[in-house]
Amino acid sequence: MIQELIFATGNANKVSEIQSILGDKFSIKSLKDIGFSQELEEPFDTLEANAKTKAEQLKEITGKDCFAEDSGLFINGLNGEPGVYSARYSGADATDSRNIELVLKNLEDKENRSAYFKTVIHLLKNGKHYQFTGICEGKIIPNPIGDNGFGYDPIFIANDIPERTFAQLTKEEKNTISHRAKATKKFVEWLKK
Ligand code: IMP
Repeated sequence: MIQELIFATGNANKVSEIQSILGDKFSIKSLKDIGFSQELEEPFDTLEANAKTKAEQLKEITGKDCFAEDSGLFINGLNGEPGVYSARYSGADATDSRNIELVLKNLEDKENRSAYFKTVIHLLKNGKHYQFTGICEGKIIPNPIGDNGFGYDPIFIANDIPERTFAQLTKEEKNTISHRAKATKKFVEWLKK
């Protein structure tokens, strides 16, 4: 029997990525697929709590098994900023380049530029809660380099591929080491068991 799971995302790329790894025993539906267009609330200050509440809100609305994901960049010299606020770090009209500018400005007088990306996936299945975490350690460089990817990719160099920024990696290279790929791998392996 095909198991249906609703994914708390509007991002079709994330859905097709997970669907293609899972194969045809699972059917992953996005918010768009189920005709849901409101924003899910993310009121907490940890990725874990926000992923959990998004999965719970979705379960409340659909009554079905579902999962949610939350990611962010944690910079050690900035006490973990931007963290859960990564998408909106530079304010209500934040863009990737404004967020990058603010990070670089705040890091100007800091020696410690180590940082990590983290993804938490929260699954609510048959009334039970499960979390899967992926972390990618690295550092923030002083000037953006590269055109691929999104978000903070041009200023992040992962320890696993120390020669290039995330924005200089191919999609395939990033997918072998990224926080999201690691969390997704754990999630998918658990589902396939
Ligand atoms: P989301 O939870 O996947 O939407 O990620 C929240 C925010 O974290 C994004 O808007 C980006 O600013 C940042 N972020 C998360 N993952 C990445 C990544 O792989 N590269 C660069 N920025 C990321």
